[in-house]
Amino acid sequence: MSLLTDSSAWQALEKHTQQVKKHHMRDLFANNAERFEDFCLQAGPIFLDYSKNLMTEETMSLLFELARQEQIEAHRDAMFSGEPINFTEHRSVLHTALRDQGSEPIISNHHNVKSDITAVLGKMKTFADQVRDGQWLGYSGKPITDVVNIGIGGSDLGPKMVVHALRPFASRKIKLHFVSNLDGSQMAETLRDLNPESTLFIISSKSFTTPETMFNAVTARGWFVSRVKNREFIKKHFVAVSTNLEAVKRFGIDEHNIFEFWEWVGGRYSLWSAIGLSICIAVGMGHFKELLEGGYKMDEHFREAPLEENMPVIMGLMGILHNNFYAIHSQAFMAYDHYLDLFPSYLQQLDMESNGKHVNRDGEDVDYCTGPVIWGDQGINGQHAFYQLLHQGTSPIPCDFIIALDSFNPACGHHPVLMSNFFAQSQALMMGKTAAEVRQELEHEGLSEPEIKALLPHKVFEGNRSSNSILFKELNPFTLGALIALYEHKVFVQGVIWRINSFDQWGVQLGKQLANQIQYELVDDEPVVKYDSSTNGLVNYYKRYRNIEGNKLLSCNNDWGVLQDIMEQEFK
Ligand code: F6P
Repeated sequence: MSLLTDSSAWQALEKHTQQVKKHHMRDLFANNAERFEDFCLQAGPIFLDYSKNLMTEETMSLLFELARQEQIEAHRDAMFSGEPINFTEHRSVLHTALRDQGSEPIISNHHNVKSDITAVLGKMKTFADQVRDGQWLGYSGKPITDVVNIGIGGSDLGPKMVVHALRPFASRKIKLHFVSNLDGSQMAETLRDLNPESTLFIISSKSFTTPETMFNAVTARGWFVSRVKNREFIKKHFVAVSTNLEAVKRFGIDEHNIFEFWEWVGGRYSLWSAIGLSICIAVGMGHFKELLEGGYKMDEHFREAPLEENMPVIMGLMGILHNNFYAIHSQAFMAYDHYLDLFPSYLQQLDMESNGKHVNRDGEDVDYCTGPVIWGDQGINGQHAFYQLLHQGTSPIPCDFIIALDSFNPACGHHPVLMSNFFAQSQALMMGKTAAEVRQELEHEGLSEPEIKALLPHKVFEGNRSSNSILFKELNPFTLGALIALYEHKVFVQGVIWRINSFDQWGVQLGKQLANQIQYELVDDEPVVKYDSSTNGLVNYYKRYRNIEGNKLLSCNNDWGVLQDIMEQEFK
């Protein structure tokens, strides 16, 4: 494979951006009254203004040339048609099939996956309806009031974010809880107020071997059995979502209570699958289907719109521009909609686990930056916390600002004020404030010349800081589906351009392997000497000062059966 950085499209961008960097966006706007119209577009329910990025028409056409050179369309079609593009795991990448509304078959491994999807959706609907309608009764005949989803990563962040975002559509009769942390405190705090008679646990794990989830699942089961004193009742209170049906059965979950999904659904792309069971229980299958339809709407746009009018492509290219040609390796997401406050942490996994890779598809080290650091928060709270750095810090960070035009709770005119903050922040980042403008302001305030001189540099904003503004009418399930799919495809586009596999995650393995080794060192009180001095020191410090005796853990030995018994004892 020829080096990406030697390619003609890349080289042309290198040369061109040296010149563009000298521009200020203030001037680009002043010189083109149509700049907003030139650089905005609508895709389904989503509107994007990308005019406040440091680029020109020529930058865009060079970026589209790069996208064509890297054969975005061919890669996209390979994904949608079920080719095994996750080649390090020999898997198709077909989360889009989960939301497909068309009538064509979708083939993975010579098998039409659509009939499987329809069957599981039907099972999810029946179960979610029963729980929501109070027909699914706990062991003592009480309806379910609390549902605890136990999972981590994609088996937690996606459904948790959606349940959170769709609260205006949720049943108030059933409370959803999400437990992911291996720190037992999260589970303890969750269980503290729950009644086993009316609590349902969903064990969500694609692999059903993830230690964090298995520990939490065993703890929940121990808590439950120790209270109800009858293992038979597990049937009424534990269901599982997994691809590993054998492991689920071994855990003791009734096979009728297993909601299946498939290896061609990546963990961080799985909220559209049975991993969305908690979403269905919260908002009902009707709304879940609208979420799928919204995702499909964005899929259609991604597949059909020419690159120049293709929102995920354009957003991906804006990221490439900043990361690779302006050397900005951080990207922020500011949700101005309260219900989207978990969206930035969901995006973190989506983007960083997909594109945090150091080798290309041929296994060669890349000589350019791939995935940036993704972070973010609620915009309005951020304004009073870290926006200082966004406006005047030494490292400019491009931001995506996201908001709904209409609020579900327009109490006392809050929303127009929120909107004005949303508009003002991207304007301030782009325009900045010059020394002359600051001087005029200070003179107007009546400050003396020495006072002006002392204060002026502190009040200057260089501006020229890039952002995208993303707006939609209201945050309903359809819109949310489209928004999530937009970012999924944006991440895909960038992965293609960086020539990486966006769908594996080997980077999470090393830490897991080492933790597995180290946990055996903790079962006695002997000092450890076999690691580096820092790891030895830390482990020994823990052994010296911990409250729990090492040998109490000895019998556990990573055997889930034994572990479960120990935990059940703990709860007695
Ligand atoms: O962090 C690694 C990872 O494999 C994620 O990709 C995944 O979403 C998460 O762990 C949970 O995995 P599982 O659903 O198999 O428990």
